[in-house]
Amino acid sequence: MPDILFDDLILDISETQAIKYTGSKLKLLPYILSLSKKAAGNSKNITVFDGFSGSTRVSQAYAKTGYTVFANDIAPYTKVFNTAFLMNTKEPKSYKPLIDHLNSLKPVSGWFTEHYGGDGTQKISANGDGLKKPWQKKNTRKLDAIREEIDALELDEVTKAVAITSLILALDQVDSTLGHYASYLNEWSPRSYNDMKLKVPNLWINKKKNVVMNHDIFNAIKKLPDNIIIAYFDPPYGSNNEKMPPSRVRYASYYHIWTTICLNDKPKVFGKAKRRADTSDIIAGSIFEEFRKSESGRFIVIEAIEKLIKETTANYIILSYSSGGRATAQELNNVLNSYGKIIEIEKINYKKNVMATMKWTNNWIKDIDEDNFEYLFLMEKR
Ligand SMILES: C[S@@+](CC[C@H](N)C(=O)[O-])C[C@H]1O[C@@H](n2cnc3c(N)ncnc32)[C@H](O)[C@@H]1O
Repeated sequence: MPDILFDDLILDISETQAIKYTGSKLKLLPYILSLSKKAAGNSKNITVFDGFSGSTRVSQAYAKTGYTVFANDIAPYTKVFNTAFLMNTKEPKSYKPLIDHLNSLKPVSGWFTEHYGGDGTQKISANGDGLKKPWQKKNTRKLDAIREEIDALELDEVTKAVAITSLILALDQVDSTLGHYASYLNEWSPRSYNDMKLKVPNLWINKKKNVVMNHDIFNAIKKLPDNIIIAYFDPPYGSNNEKMPPSRVRYASYYHIWTTICLNDKPKVFGKAKRRADTSDIIAGSIFEEFRKSESGRFIVIEAIEKLIKETTANYIILSYSSGGRATAQELNNVLNSYGKIIEIEKINYKKNVMATMKWTNNWIKDIDEDNFEYLFLMEKR
């Protein structure tokens, strides 16, 4: 069955803004929006649900396209980003005095500096506790001052979210990491020597009443209104690689520091990366990050996806899947065919700039072993 070229790709995507995030779908936005348009037609007057919003790139793109967005993720930092981007109704420049004020604060040594700040003039091993750090002290001292001030100012929810989002985006620019916070670099990255400076995030005035949710996905879908036309699901798929232990792909531990900055709860920390105690490997992660099989011999993650698809009441579901395991692919294919009609499958390798559209086919699983392919399934719920 020949692959068909995707001729009506939406390339004119409004700009989105986010932290570095494992599994971010920034490069897939044209494909996700095009599939959504296939489902929704030209109407902008529809409501969509982004169930695993993560960096919020997809939620932002949906909102900027003109759809009403329900954006959910279990991560507290995603709630903050979505609140800033999707709920703002003010002129972006109205936040400038607040951001200028936060930038002008006198740096102080506090909880964040104690745990996450290192001296850029010394070898990393010469840090007080001999541990590698994600930021230089000059920047964690700013973080300490700014985060305390944000609480002291008693801002309304959206303004507070804008301030914290601005702080996190600025910290993301001066980190010394590989893009996550489960371990830090041996040598200071060149960018970590820069002075952190907050900017007003790239906000816009939202005309639609978007809704931000911060629930486990199975609770979130129960709370949705019945007019959701498209649900986009991008779960973590810890099971993709059977050899990968769950702790390696757990979002809560990769991005523990953003959770702590949002909550400002000075939690108990442990280990070399000083992760939050509540992200320890002995505490169960998300069921979607589970790589084992259940007693019935099926992958636990596939059972979770089956339940998700079954319980979702949207007219259409767009599901993301990264290639990696033939076994999960075969099972996934069975699930997709049981609960809906697959309308279209996109297979994309954005590193090689290759893509193909497969219609009416189950053949996608035959070459699932090829590396670095991302799949998007558009299905109509039965
Ligand atoms: C692959 S990432 C999503 C990336 C997102 N589409 C983007 O473009 O940034 C998976 C997300 O699922 C979230 N997650 C994991 N388990 C969840 C659950 N049970 N309910 C809701 N969200 C969950 C994680 O916090 C993570 O942000």
